Amino acid sequence: MENLHSFRKNYTKNQLNEADIHSKPLQQFKVWFQEAVNDASFEANAMVLSTVGKEGMPSSRVVLLKEIIDEGFIFYTNYKSKKAKDLAYNNKASILFFWEKFERQIRIEGEIEKISEQKSINYFNSRPKASQIGAVISKQSEEVSSRKILEEKFEKYNENQEIEKPKDWGGYILKANKYEFWQGRASRIHDRIVYQQEKNSWNIKRLNP
Ligand SMILES: Cc1cc2nc3c(=O)[nH]c(=O)nc-3n(C[C@H](O)[C@H](O)[C@H](O)COP(=O)(O)O)c2cc1C
Repeated sequence: MENLHSFRKNYTKNQLNEADIHSKPLQQFKVWFQEAVNDASFEANAMVLSTVGKEGMPSSRVVLLKEIIDEGFIFYTNYKSKKAKDLAYNNKASILFFWEKFERQIRIEGEIEKISEQKSINYFNSRPKASQIGAVISKQSEEVSSRKILEEKFEKYNENQEIEKPKDWGGYILKANKYEFWQGRASRIHDRIVYQQEKNSWNIKRLNP
């Protein structure tokens, strides 16, 4: 095993200055997101979603950002999964993007709610058939005794079959009230710009790295 103490990178690719940022964080997000998306070498829309359920224990996993609208960030999942149970108890959550290639991190906090059933149906119907079948057969986050059971369930469906959205599958939207944009800089003097919502405006400040 290598000694991690010597793993050290100097970040020098970009900078984040007050003079150049948008006054609205969603606009700033879109600028960085577009740059990440334009670089097709990684999944820019993969984000870490963190929730806290009844036990008070944070729980994180990657989900895919599927739409950005003025109200927030939309992703899709199973409404009976661990994350869904956490969210039913406590709808405060965070999403995090780490774009190593750009030496950037974005942390977003807010409250999550389900999107409309119709919007979930529309998106489900647009998915590839195999993904639809995958969603139908998976009791996400429940124990399964073998992989074979899942494969057998999958094989019962065929590619020409109409698949209806399962009722326990759908979208959530995170409505943000705080954003932090982190840009790695030389000598660990990184840029950190925070937007905090205050009634109808955004308060912007810089944090120590
Ligand atoms: C790159 C990547 C993308 C993923 N996208 C999703 C997604 O969009 N929705 C989803 O439910 N799970 C997605 N997953 C799986 C989740 O990380 C997780 O295993 C699953 O949602 C169960 O989480 P939970 O038990 O905490 O509810 C993805 C995983 C990875 C690594």
